Amino acid sequence: MKRRNFILLSSVASSVVLTGCMPMLLAGGMGGMGMDFTSATNSNPLSSSANDKTFNKALAIPPLLEGENRNGTYHYDLKIQKAQHEFFDNTLTDTYAVNGTYLAPTLKLINGQDVSLNYTNKLDETTTMHGHGMHLPAKMDGTAHQSIAPDARWSAKYRVKQKACTNWYHPHAHEKTAEHVYKGLAGLIIIEDEQSQSLDLPKDYGVDDIPLVLQDRFFDAKGQLHYAPSMHQTMMGYKGDAFVTNGVINPYVEVSAKEIRLRLLNGSNSTVYNLSFSDNRSFKQIATDNSFLESPVVLNSVLLSPGERAEIVVNLEDDLGGSLYLMETRQAKAFLKINVNTKATHRTKVPSVLTRLDKGLVQDATHRRKFVLSARMGQMYINNKSMDMNRVNEVIPLNRVEIWEVHNQKMMMMGMEHNFHMHGTHFMVVERNGSIHNVLENEKGYKDTVYLASGDSVKLVVKMTDYTDKTTPYMYHCHFLEHEDRGMMGQFLVTK
Ligand code: C2O
Ligand code: CU
Ligand code: CU
Repeated sequence: MKRRNFILLSSVASSVVLTGCMPMLLAGGMGGMGMDFTSATNSNPLSSSANDKTFNKALAIPPLLEGENRNGTYHYDLKIQKAQHEFFDNTLTDTYAVNGTYLAPTLKLINGQDVSLNYTNKLDETTTMHGHGMHLPAKMDGTAHQSIAPDARWSAKYRVKQKACTNWYHPHAHEKTAEHVYKGLAGLIIIEDEQSQSLDLPKDYGVDDIPLVLQDRFFDAKGQLHYAPSMHQTMMGYKGDAFVTNGVINPYVEVSAKEIRLRLLNGSNSTVYNLSFSDNRSFKQIATDNSFLESPVVLNSVLLSPGERAEIVVNLEDDLGGSLYLMETRQAKAFLKINVNTKATHRTKVPSVLTRLDKGLVQDATHRRKFVLSARMGQMYINNKSMDMNRVNEVIPLNRVEIWEVHNQKMMMMGMEHNFHMHGTHFMVVERNGSIHNVLENEKGYKDTVYLASGDSVKLVVKMTDYTDKTTPYMYHCHFLEHEDRGMMGQFLVTK
């Protein structure tokens, strides 16, 4: 009764195999609809017939929500609600969403613009909505200090004051972030500035500038999402066996034979993705979390830990009539099939210089802080302390250049991956494992989340600018959401 889905990519000598990445739906669980999908571990990579029928759903593009200009401030009305989403034909999955049925609309904000993101919480429980990567006052950050009770409203009002980048928004409720994101609450905030608007890059949203919210989910026999991690899953991450791209399992997208820009967000709870194309072609990474890179970086794969973003441009000029997959190489599964089926009418060429960055300079730093990430028995710590809403861990003077040293402490028995994210600003990675030479070319843009393999350490240059608040803290934490919710988080104030 098992249906195995396997695809051989004939062009790949090393036999990259696409498993069907179907969720585990146990036979009989789908109300007699005969949907006995099983997660197909590929058994016969030498099959010659490329069976990619599973990638037959059109990719959804999160709708762009137009702001409404009221007296010079652009308002975005966002309703956080319970919904039902069709991940599987004829099956509705209970979800949380903003305005729609899964995920949230994309907001396109322009540097310098005054905005008001007006949230209404229509859930039965308290949540929050945080602007990840946004440079804004602590009171507008959307952490658990700005909770939104059921039926309440809360607005994040601020002036956009940062470089072009791809940010995102998601709940940050105390010990509930993982569950709320898992159920579907996440959306993109694209920031544009004069530079991004003038560069010769693909910019047609959803056409050649394609946002991809990459997630994995575990569905039960009835096609429902449950968030119930065991202690082991808390430690090692709550990973799903189904890859979900913009809320669609096994989607395809149709594009023209030209350069295509992908805005990649690792929107998973705790899974690290190493992304590449099925023919292992090279591509150019043009942006990190919070800015363009100064120059494009040529890569064959890009590693993204939860919360990180990368903008990449892949050249499909010679691929008319062909297809390729966006792969995740650690699991050897595909997120997306890309069909190149129309001639391009307009072409772009990635410029060799994209932006100028204020380089973080170690020698400018006048203060140093150390953060050690560790875990014991399902509880998570930074500097041996678990998150306490009532404790301010660090106080940072405005405009002071600091070095933040982050260590992923190696445990005796087991290595764990983590990352480190801070709110309210970006940082530069200036050292990795003791040397500037270990800093990867594609982490030399502004970032807000940095990956640490077991035993890794990084040095970050940090400078808080513009906003102070004597009482409301920002947060820093591991962005593996299970870790964050189990205490791997701390708070900091920025003062005059
Ligand atoms: Cu993406 Cu503190 O969050
Ligand atoms: Cu954040
Ligand atoms: Cu972690």
